[in-house]
Amino acid sequence: MKPAEFDQHAATYDGGLDNPIKRMMGNSADQFIGVKARWLLRHEPGLKTGGLSLLDYGCGAGDLMRVLAGMGARAAFTGCDISGGMLEEAARRWPAGSGPVPTLAAQDGASTPLAAGQFDIATISAVLHHVPVAERPAVYAELGRVLKPGGRLYVFEHNPRNPLVRYVIARTPIDANALLLDASEVRHGLLAAARYEIETDYLMFMPPGIAMLRGIDRALAWLPLGAQYAVAARKPI
Ligand SMILES: C[S@@+](CC[C@H](N)C(=O)[O-])C[C@H]1O[C@@H](n2cnc3c(N)ncnc32)[C@H](O)[C@@H]1O
Repeated sequence: MKPAEFDQHAATYDGGLDNPIKRMMGNSADQFIGVKARWLLRHEPGLKTGGLSLLDYGCGAGDLMRVLAGMGARAAFTGCDISGGMLEEAARRWPAGSGPVPTLAAQDGASTPLAAGQFDIATISAVLHHVPVAERPAVYAELGRVLKPGGRLYVFEHNPRNPLVRYVIARTPIDANALLLDASEVRHGLLAAARYEIETDYLMFMPPGIAMLRGIDRALAWLPLGAQYAVAARKPI
């Protein structure tokens, strides 16, 4: 693999928690990932009963799969990434006792070596804002290719409509080259690739570390101001 942008961050990768404002909102990267993982488990309860396959595209150090497994998900996990260094971290950080280490695959640009139509679920979390705009259609196409008919795709991204998000991203070293994208851009990109059924939720209105405020987050999911959004897309059968 040729060197990728995230190879330089791999050994110390903590999801941008070196930013002091982000650290005020939550004291570990897992608290931020946990918001997405809980949302996903509510939408895909079958992840806990086993028998589903999940691809985490741009899995980085494997944090989303690891946090899902820690919350009881027992899917057949596969992660892919363009950075060999991040894939090495994903293998190294996988905890004993969380089930088998995910299958890990190297991307060649947007492409993966994975067979077409093999995943029930695909996730792509905090990746697209690192992908150059001209390459994003190839990522949408690849996600659609590897999903089964009727498979579900979940795109999690930072929400540029939230001013605090824009402030933090502009001051976080791993985001030096980031180009944030609105949920409407994701929806249009996906619909150009396939005739998905699409829904959007907004997440993370409250600091993720404060469990008693989670009900407020769920009540506000319609409001396009959360720090994150989730675009859920079902592939036609
Ligand atoms: C901010 S990290 C997020 C990692 C992980 N998804 C998470 O939520 O913790 C972004 C990841 O996207 C990966 N990536 C995958 N495909 C990419 C592409 N075409 N261009 C840039 N980065 C890409 C990077 O290598 C990196 O591991």
